[in-house]
Amino acid sequence: MNPESAIANPGTYCPHFAAARCRSCAWIERGYAGQLADKQALAEARIQSARLRWLSPLASAPSGFRNKAKMAVGGSVDSPLLGLVDLQDRAVDLADCLLYPPALQSAFASLREFIRRARITPYSLAQRRGELKYLLLTIAPSGALGLRFVLRSREPLSRIEKHLPGLREALPMLDPVSVNLQPEHKAVLEGDVELLLPGPDSLRMEVNGIPLHLKPRSFFQTHTELAGELYAQAARWIAESRPQRLLDLYCGVGGFALHCAPHAQQVIGREISAEAIASAERSTQELGLTNVRFEVADASAAAALAGEAEAVIVNPPRRGIGAELCAAVESSATRTLIYSSCNVDSLAADLGRLSSFEPIEAQVLDLFPHTAHFETLVLLRRRDETGLEAP
Ligand SMILES: C[S@@+](CC[C@H](N)C(=O)[O-])C[C@H]1O[C@@H](n2cnc3c(N)ncnc32)[C@H](O)[C@@H]1O
Repeated sequence: MNPESAIANPGTYCPHFAAARCRSCAWIERGYAGQLADKQALAEARIQSARLRWLSPLASAPSGFRNKAKMAVGGSVDSPLLGLVDLQDRAVDLADCLLYPPALQSAFASLREFIRRARITPYSLAQRRGELKYLLLTIAPSGALGLRFVLRSREPLSRIEKHLPGLREALPMLDPVSVNLQPEHKAVLEGDVELLLPGPDSLRMEVNGIPLHLKPRSFFQTHTELAGELYAQAARWIAESRPQRLLDLYCGVGGFALHCAPHAQQVIGREISAEAIASAERSTQELGLTNVRFEVADASAAAALAGEAEAVIVNPPRRGIGAELCAAVESSATRTLIYSSCNVDSLAADLGRLSSFEPIEAQVLDLFPHTAHFETLVLLRRRDETGLEAP
């Protein structure tokens, strides 16, 4: 993109991309309107059905939308760089990346100063030396920040603890701080051990007035504003069918279940992470909801549908829900199915296995601007209710 078209398309010109220093935003040079049209066309090509009505796609702001920064740490202890580090130890500082809101960008300066003060040597994969691999920073709509250090070992831990009060002074909105240990000499983001440092244990993310609580390792969508739109649209659909019982499978910290609670007699969320379920239960208590409960369960197994439900929401990882859960949904009493997916290919494959269900409405939500990724939300109803026979 040349500088004139960069002015005509604010938020879609990136100097790092143009100079090939970072190629993460592979679609950025298409311009934002072009990206959204291409995503809509991809979704329509993959999901087709006689009665399917597409709602207008939900666009993102072209910049400042991403709530989470995964910064590899390179350079030296006196001059740390936060951004990308390649296998040859070449580091690119991406603290001014246009995806991050200004409050996240400005926190990077305090974090660099902290690395210098606490003498935490950036890790070098090529030399197998150093300690600090990544800084993972998440921002809530309130401005509160969750911070994780990914370290090779515990070596800098006492210095991190010693200097943490100073960091909290520099970043008063800093909430949970933790250390993840990733001892392997591999370009792997995180390890199994997470040590919570003194302070709050979770980041409070308020979405549409609903408090969600993120522990350091909890999954949360990286686009808070459009996550709110996603939950709100699902809740509108559930409000139309007013089910006796609603199941939210792969529920994470409970976004869909808690938004839908006013529109179903009973809501059950199921999810594999015990930590996420504890957070969802905390939100339920804070909201005083008596018709919602959460359970630790493997949602990919047929048993995930135990108890039967008229309505089911699924929001699986990229691999989709798979053959076993599709077969269980097919043979269940479920009448309404809402499928939220970040991978239109696995979504299309699963919908092919759900031949008793007819896609009625769908929407593309651009949770991942400037990349090929997007979220697709689909409302399906059992065919005997739509007047259509299975093909
Ligand atoms: C795309 S996230 C969706 C989370 C949640 N619905 C939300 O809106 O944030 C997928 C979730 O599935 C969970 N998960 C992965 N495999 C699972 C399984 N076999 N059974 C249940 N949950 C699983 C992950 O822990 C993660 O929370």
